[in-house]
Amino acid sequence: MHFFQYRGDVLFAEDVDLRVLAEQVGTPTYVYSYGTLKRHCTALHRAFGDRPHLTCYAVKANGNLAILRTLAQEGIGADVVSGGELFRARVAGFPGDRIVYSGVGKTAEEMRYALEEGILCFNVESFQELELLNQVAGEAGKVAPVALRVNPDVDPMTHPHIATGLRENKFGVAWEEALRAYEVASSLPNVRVVGVDAHIGSQITSVEPFVESAKKLAELAGRLMDKGMTLEHIDIGGGLGIRYRDEDPPEPGEWVEALLPVLEPLGLKIIFEPGRSLVGNAGILLTKVLYVKETPHRNFVIVDASMTDLIRPALYGAYHEVLPVERGGGEIIKADVVGPVCESGDFLAKDRTLERPRPGDLLAVMSAGAYGFVMSSNYNARPRPAEVLVKGDRFQVVRERETYGDLVRGERFLGI
Ligand code: LLP
Repeated sequence: MHFFQYRGDVLFAEDVDLRVLAEQVGTPTYVYSYGTLKRHCTALHRAFGDRPHLTCYAVKANGNLAILRTLAQEGIGADVVSGGELFRARVAGFPGDRIVYSGVGKTAEEMRYALEEGILCFNVESFQELELLNQVAGEAGKVAPVALRVNPDVDPMTHPHIATGLRENKFGVAWEEALRAYEVASSLPNVRVVGVDAHIGSQITSVEPFVESAKKLAELAGRLMDKGMTLEHIDIGGGLGIRYRDEDPPEPGEWVEALLPVLEPLGLKIIFEPGRSLVGNAGILLTKVLYVKETPHRNFVIVDASMTDLIRPALYGAYHEVLPVERGGGEIIKADVVGPVCESGDFLAKDRTLERPRPGDLLAVMSAGAYGFVMSSNYNARPRPAEVLVKGDRFQVVRERETYGDLVRGERFLGI
């Protein structure tokens, strides 16, 4: 459910006519819907009811400060995977004690920073990381709260690049070694075990893999408590998918409800780390048609957005629906929607039937709110697009379009 809908033949973001927005801000531009974000947060809050819980939004999905601030104001926490994400989360207003820190490669410096910020939990992914965290915390005169991210070896049935909970993946402590890792953790003086954690992958469209992983995690938590360890929370990770095409994933609230019977009996605080399901369909990429190139072999709609703005189609063959901002009228053609970048892999959509657009027409690449702008690059010296947040009938640029000056900032000629 989202708030990008046609009114008559014109696509609106909430109450904003996207033609007007494009006229004022230019293209390409990411457009986000405040109402959609709020709606997803409310659904999660409702599903948890008054059970002790914390939703830690995965900042990697969309780290724009205005998005983060909106979520922080909804009482949501943050899941970060780098010092930079921690910085963003803190600037946006997430309190330290609502932040969990995941990732296989935390540096000592990042650990120090996170300790200073008083984060809720380090999701530790290896024995060596545990040792280093113990050392860094000791030097800082602190005790680091930890959960071990275990790899439950569950098949999330998703794209191989975004599966993380299979035993051949680099993530987490192997399931067979989990107990031993917890024993090591509880023997270290400067870390304190507070939870258990797993994250099995992304764009998962059914609840079964989550239930399977939650059962394993609950079993582990039970065993640890039997051994006398005091746990405070169980973190089931993120990974709930959204509809890009014809998938039928559960709504965020349904996802939570499916897992509560497994998690609730433990009596621990429940942590989820959703990214995509909160922001994915709350954003679109607005782009302008530059040329329509019809060749004897294939047709190309060449637009001003490219793989540098939205890399998911090029990287994963991901499908994003492409809609005309003004519909009706054009003859139907079959075409690839491609960008200006000098790579054959630079496409936003392949083999689509769409109304033949004219140069200057606007298109909306749907469901681009997650892993869109955050994965953008400056390849081909393309300035990154603007980001806009719409709220009702108003909108605001929440990140300015980059300039040519931005492209060369920090560079200098050799002076030695
Ligand atoms: N927690 C951890 C530890 C994660 O690694 C991730 C995502 C999440 C939570 C949030 O997962 P989500 O709810 O968004 O599925 N770039 C890829 C997705 C990579 C996901 C990486 N980890 C894409 O564009 O599909």
